[in-house]
Amino acid sequence: MEHYLITGGAGFIGSNFIHQLISSRQDIHITNLDALTYAGNPDNLKSVSNFPNYTFLNLDICNDKDLVELFVYSDFDKIVHFAAESHVDRSIENPMAFIQTNVVGTANLLRVFLNFWQNAPQPKKEKFRFLHISTDEVYGSLEKGEKSFSELTPYSPNSPYAASKAASDHLVRAYFTTYGFPAMITNCSNNYGPYQFPEKLIPLVIMNALSGKPIPVYGDGGQIRDWLHVSDHCEALMDVIDNGQPGQTYNIGGDNQPTNLEIVNKICSILDEECPESKFCPHSQLITYVKDRPGHDRRYAINFSKINKELGWRPKINLDEGLKKTIQWYLANQEWVKAVVEKPNYSEWIKANYQNRREVKP
Ligand code: NAD
Ligand code: TYD
Repeated sequence: MEHYLITGGAGFIGSNFIHQLISSRQDIHITNLDALTYAGNPDNLKSVSNFPNYTFLNLDICNDKDLVELFVYSDFDKIVHFAAESHVDRSIENPMAFIQTNVVGTANLLRVFLNFWQNAPQPKKEKFRFLHISTDEVYGSLEKGEKSFSELTPYSPNSPYAASKAASDHLVRAYFTTYGFPAMITNCSNNYGPYQFPEKLIPLVIMNALSGKPIPVYGDGGQIRDWLHVSDHCEALMDVIDNGQPGQTYNIGGDNQPTNLEIVNKICSILDEECPESKFCPHSQLITYVKDRPGHDRRYAINFSKINKELGWRPKINLDEGLKKTIQWYLANQEWVKAVVEKPNYSEWIKANYQNRREVKP
């Protein structure tokens, strides 16, 4: 029996990871530690919540007392650390929350689990792994024609979110170098798929288009992200946990880089096909250019040849297929959507973020 501790498992990627892990592995126990911030949603895990091999702990990684309590449960073999503040626009409004969870929270976990690992019996010590989930945003922004991010690209974060993730990556690396703590880091590009909180581009566009609201495109819409379906990301993470080398970093990416405008138009066309009766067809008429994000990174692109060569991973879901599946999921899960968008913190955020972004010509 292997015991996994997942931090931030009630969020978007963490909940997808738990679903995939539980359905693909026998003989495991999963403990999900989550503070249930605005982004943590117990509904994401409704179908597994009564499983005997699943435990939920409502704890905060920033709270020392909570981490002491964790020790009661802490016969863990693998730690997969997703918990974070994750939205760039919110980091511009309130950077301190990002420093607190992403930097101090990660430092707390490292301190607690270094102690646990150092005192563990030898066989447990040998198989113990700490996987820190990070982002390609730590590498900064690429100019047109510049080489994609590899594991050797120097860190150059531009947003408070990216800077806080970079700081946490450095701490993880230092724990390996200094103490031999068996930690690994993955730096992944933008994810999309089921259970994503609709403050991020893809679910926000789907929500707004379905309800006939303006679809906000920041700046000229020419920014580029390297989109990856969340289930491909979760498979890569399982490969790294099983076969990755302690002390190593692995870049994970989707192998496709549309502009924001291209991806928004793709979503609109799929919605036209899926909802031909909608009075908002063609949905692209809702596209509205709004004031740009300050410090907006222009382009991300990931070179994932290391994880491909060493662990045999590559993405399986192409963007058109993944977007279609994602849109179908949101259409089929209107109750989930309704519960999320009806919470006051969602409408408050939408109002705060978009009221000052008047419509502009690109
Ligand atoms: P999310 O915002 O959807 O979920 C974050 C989860 O962490 C929530 O369940 C929240 O309640 C929990 N959390 C926040 N603060 C906490 C605290 N102090 N203690 C315990 N739990 C806390 O985020 P996501 O999109 O699922 O991202 C997960 C991880 O993956 C993050 O570390 C993020 O940086 C990284 N990542 C995300 C993407 C992406 O495209 N979403 C891409 C690459 C890497
Ligand atoms: P987002 O999903 O917030 O992810 P990240 O900023 O971490 O890459 O945004 C993806 C891209 O979409 C990014 O270039 C910003 C842009 N964007 C918009 O144009 N409009 C929006 O309303 C949002 C939320 C994002």
